[in-house]
Amino acid sequence: MGINLAVLGATGLVGREIIKLLEERNFPVDNLSAYASARSQGERIAFKNKQITVEELDTKRIADCEIYLSSLPGSVSKVILPEIAREDRVIIDNSSAFRMDEDVPLIVPEINGDLLEDYRGIVANPNCSTIQMVVVLHPLSEKFGLKRVTVTTMQSVSGSGQRALEALLKESREFLDEGRRSARHYAHPIAFNLLPAIDYFHDNNYSNEEMKMVRETRKILSRPDLEINPTCVRVPVKFGHAESCQVELGREFKLQAVRETLEDIPGIAVLDDPHKDVYPLAIETEKDERTLVGRLRKDLDRSRVLNFYCAANNIRKGAALNAVQIAEKCLQVRKK
Ligand SMILES: NC(=O)c1ccc[n+]([C@@H]2O[C@H](COP(=O)([O-])OP(=O)(O)OC[C@H]3O[C@@H](n4cnc5c(N)ncnc54)[C@H](OP(=O)(O)O)[C@@H]3O)[C@@H](O)[C@H]2O)c1
Repeated sequence: MGINLAVLGATGLVGREIIKLLEERNFPVDNLSAYASARSQGERIAFKNKQITVEELDTKRIADCEIYLSSLPGSVSKVILPEIAREDRVIIDNSSAFRMDEDVPLIVPEINGDLLEDYRGIVANPNCSTIQMVVVLHPLSEKFGLKRVTVTTMQSVSGSGQRALEALLKESREFLDEGRRSARHYAHPIAFNLLPAIDYFHDNNYSNEEMKMVRETRKILSRPDLEINPTCVRVPVKFGHAESCQVELGREFKLQAVRETLEDIPGIAVLDDPHKDVYPLAIETEKDERTLVGRLRKDLDRSRVLNFYCAANNIRKGAALNAVQIAEKCLQVRKK
């Protein structure tokens, strides 16, 4: 027997991917309801040989479901989700609205999915850059210990949603056809450019995206002491975030032991043969939903420091897949 489930923000990049994944993974759904803004009312979305009609989100008329998978803008989530929350419902939120609330679990199922046992209420899905990094850090931390992480992200434009993606394509065409540069979504042009600024800046001169990586990583790994030193960059790539990471482990290590540790994790694919041009590529993440890890190498001077490069699909593991895996875990721990 399946459950009643609703997708909020069903017409967005993440919402559409969630619906695809529910079908692909044969998630046990009896009734699927889809909600978005008034702009999308009446739009149809395919799900298991049926067409689901998108409804305008109105909390007074929302279907009674066991699980709500939400990918609304943060400001909308903040208001709407507490209105939907009830003690017999789980609401899985992709936005950043509740991630750092003390009583809201921030979940990557393979790391801290146990927190979902008997849980009802809002569950937060972490930031896309954080998820792919902690997927790699967690096994390294378990095996070798972990002291400090320095990370530079290269984040694709789809991370900012459907409109940003359209802006990248328009800016690119304008530049190629007319030699003209315009800034259609960000403060500066993104086509053929790099923007070392994601979200607003805090007084300490770190961007909000960078501070999310610090706070969320510490919360997921239950390591308030972990040293994290991030720089987040938006790059003119459609899908797939990449990260260059330098990690100080708790002890000295052999590169082969690192490789074997990572190869044992089902959600990770080690692609690491640079002499044969094998390393993680952003475009590969469109086909492979695992976190791709490569360019493994020891720091030239410091024996406890490991360098690696990872790439993952920001819409899949970075958002929709992790959210659906949270829903799967909720059902699994409920059945026990
Ligand atoms: N993209 C990523 O890689 C990614 C990764 C992790 C987390 N997230 C988070 O996930 C959320 C969605 O991201 P996205 O990339 O899917 O954005 P998106 O493509 O812009 O989609 C936003 C969705 O929310 C709906 N919506 C907007 N305002 C609404 C309102 N007032 N009432 C009801 N529905 C409303 C939109 O409906 P309409 O189509 O009708 O406008 C659309 O379905 C955001 O909080 C984002 O930060 C995104």
